[in-house]
Amino acid sequence: MKKVIIFIGPPGSGKGTQSKLIAAKFGYGHISTGDLLRQLQREPTLADDESEALENMKKGQLVPDWLIYRLAFRASEDYLKKGPGVVFDGAIRNVAQAEKYQEFFNEQSLLDQVVVLEVALPDEVSFKRLAWRRICKQCGAIIPLYVDGAEQKVCPTCGGEMMIRHDDQEEIVHKRIKEQGNAAIKPVREFYAQLHLLRTIDGLKTVQQVEKDIENVIISLT
Ligand code: AP5
Repeated sequence: MKKVIIFIGPPGSGKGTQSKLIAAKFGYGHISTGDLLRQLQREPTLADDESEALENMKKGQLVPDWLIYRLAFRASEDYLKKGPGVVFDGAIRNVAQAEKYQEFFNEQSLLDQVVVLEVALPDEVSFKRLAWRRICKQCGAIIPLYVDGAEQKVCPTCGGEMMIRHDDQEEIVHKRIKEQGNAAIKPVREFYAQLHLLRTIDGLKTVQQVEKDIENVIISLT
């Protein structure tokens, strides 16, 4: 298996759901830049430039690249040195970032250890999924509001209270899909396709089927 597994895909495609499952299954570190940014947002003291950068996130826009490098590279170094590998979840959203990460992997002698998994989903489906997404306040699980038509009242994992993510409000979701949806990630997928690193997974299937498809791809790569 490759040591560096990168998930790309539009908002709501299932990157978070799948990257957590895969990281847990194979003992990989999980780096979600969205989670790192939300964690940073909760810090009592923030540098002015960080505070300003986080305003973009509230509005559904990308934060500046430097903040992503600062958070993601630092977080991944330990996992890459000590663990079997790392799953990057949403950590790359434009070509400048893709190039910078390749430089980083090169410095770590990991260029031949990279695979990029695109979870493909039409933008209109993303919109519905985000409208129905809930997050457990207690354990952080990602939860669909309806499972087999039944509304979830509490977290199915720990019974915790469920909340709606700030950026899942309708107008912010529109903005995120416009700025980070399929049109926006096309140059990124093309970048990786040219390097022969891209594998595309059909995100329309069930969570379990998508997980199986991902496993089949990553297990087949040495
Ligand atoms: P982030 O938190 O990464 O948000 P995102 O990319 O918009 O992705 P989401 O978390 O919304 O969706 P997902 O693909 O993980 O889907 P999920 O598994 O939750 O980033 C937040 C913000 O941070 C960005 O807007 C940006 O401002 C900033 N940011 C982050 N990284 C950045 C970077 N590199 N550069 C610049 N800025 C950055 O699933 C969604 C829902 O669907 C859930 O309810 C889930 O249960 C359900 N679901 C999942 N899979 C399935 C399935 N197969 N069938 C049915 N339902 C499913």
